[in-house]
Amino acid sequence: MHVGATSDLILTLAGDDAAFTAEGRALVRSVLAGTDPQWAHSLAQLHRHAAPHARLRKWTVWHFLSRLAEEEHITVQQLVVPGAGWSPLAVDWLATDPTARAWELDLENIDAKRALVQKNARAIAPRWRNRRCDASDAAAVTAALAGAGWDSSQPTAWVLEGLLYYIAPAAAISLIREALGSHPDSRVIVEVGLPDDSIQQAAGEECRAYHQAIALAIGRDHLYTHEPTALAAACGARVEAIMDPATASRLRGDSPPAFVHPMESTQRVVLLARAISLA
Ligand SMILES: C[S@@+](CC[C@H](N)C(=O)[O-])C[C@H]1O[C@@H](n2cnc3c(N)ncnc32)[C@H](O)[C@@H]1O
Repeated sequence: MHVGATSDLILTLAGDDAAFTAEGRALVRSVLAGTDPQWAHSLAQLHRHAAPHARLRKWTVWHFLSRLAEEEHITVQQLVVPGAGWSPLAVDWLATDPTARAWELDLENIDAKRALVQKNARAIAPRWRNRRCDASDAAAVTAALAGAGWDSSQPTAWVLEGLLYYIAPAAAISLIREALGSHPDSRVIVEVGLPDDSIQQAAGEECRAYHQAIALAIGRDHLYTHEPTALAAACGARVEAIMDPATASRLRGDSPPAFVHPMESTQRVVLLARAISLA
């Protein structure tokens, strides 16, 4: 199985909860109509938190983007999504903000995603671009974006969701440095998995087993984990906000909540900004 299959997995697990607009939901349904759900269904049966994890991280990314839009509208006028996979996020964002533009990057399913966006979200497609690009090569990322009309002189919101599990830490740090380096007001919303031994033991073992099952299926030894503050420091960044699934579940009003305590899950969604220089 290729790494691109993990995108089918997340979309099947999150379903309609992956999207926030009619255009996004149309894209999700169209993708799911052509996707084999078997792997996702068997993982969801074995790992009861798999589906809530997928739904809650989608909700949290949307929550952070919406908050940025309220506080600093200019920052979300350009949205870049490396490792976008089948995610409806950029389509949702363009449907919500009529002046925004978005760029997606991935290794796989580029032409198929483009065809689906053109079919399901025709009105926003002129403001949407996707390119094949290895997100672990930061220079290639900025070159691909520049070639597709991205304006590096303007602030940009970057969303790295479900990506850092698959990229070696040094490359992840370079990518985030590059993202925040382009403009002082740019932001990175990044989803990370904490090291399994940093949370409650039983929950950590569940997360480890789930990630190990995914790694095995795509022919990897393991998925990468990060401690958010250390990651931010390594990137010359500061943590502006951080959300765990228990807090997201409470804010979202889930009843019953899928997670009650932050230490029940390794999943964190982190909003990074450039570190403030005192020089
Ligand atoms: C778990 S999926 C997440 C998809 C989407 N971001 C979401 O959360 O719904 C991981 C995605 O990252 C892509 N990916 C993995 N390694 C990559 C790399 N080095 N460069 C670009 N994309 C990559 C995969 O192809 C896949 O689409």
